[in-house]
Amino acid sequence: MKILITAGPTREAIDPVRFLSNRSSGRMGYALAHAFAHAQHQVLLISGPTALEVPDHVDFIPIESAEEMFVATCQVCSRYDVVICCAAVSDYRPVQCATQKIKKNAVTLSLELERTPDVLGSLRSRGFTGALIGFAAETQDLELQARRKLDEKGCDLIIANDVSQPGVGFDSEDNELLLVDPLGSIVLPRATKSQLAHQLVPIICDIAFQRQRMPE
Ligand code: CTP
Repeated sequence: MKILITAGPTREAIDPVRFLSNRSSGRMGYALAHAFAHAQHQVLLISGPTALEVPDHVDFIPIESAEEMFVATCQVCSRYDVVICCAAVSDYRPVQCATQKIKKNAVTLSLELERTPDVLGSLRSRGFTGALIGFAAETQDLELQARRKLDEKGCDLIIANDVSQPGVGFDSEDNELLLVDPLGSIVLPRATKSQLAHQLVPIICDIAFQRQRMPE
């Protein structure tokens, strides 16, 4: 099967030397890319900047901003059976990027921010008919928020994690996942991101097979 995975953080430029970003390490997305490639699937990873090595046998498109991730994903997604949006995309970016480094002349400085495109949330309206898998990073109401994202973004599965728990989720080796689909939810107990990625491969393949059997 052909699998497209978005991963890592995005960077939204403030000026030539500064950006807005987040704590995503990219580990979960890279672990998924490795696990799918290991299972002989064809994988494309579209990733923001991370400290990780691209896994063997994985095609790679590096991006920086949410806009670049959006453009790259929309350009190629129709060629893929599955899109897994694992990236921690910045929801906002500065309205303007200063052309020169901002000097600390003023005592306070306000940045005006605008919404970035929602990569996952745009794919169904742009005609993507394959299996669509999203993540949800939450600090409260995990299942409720995951189910809202499942419906709003037209996903087949939301993989949710509670980022308020110490030792799991953002910037950690481990994770604990709640899988939410239209029929119910199950927990994948705490394990390394690599172990969880290997558990997710057959689950996601099964969803993709079911999707292929659905009438258009
Ligand atoms: N996502 C995306 N593009 C964005 C924002 C989010 O593709 N601009 C994707 C993420 O990759 C993830 C899912 O949407 O798969 C949910 O991301 P999350 O940050 O948990 O939620 P948001 O969509 O930002 O919604 P909210 O602000 O309500 O939490």
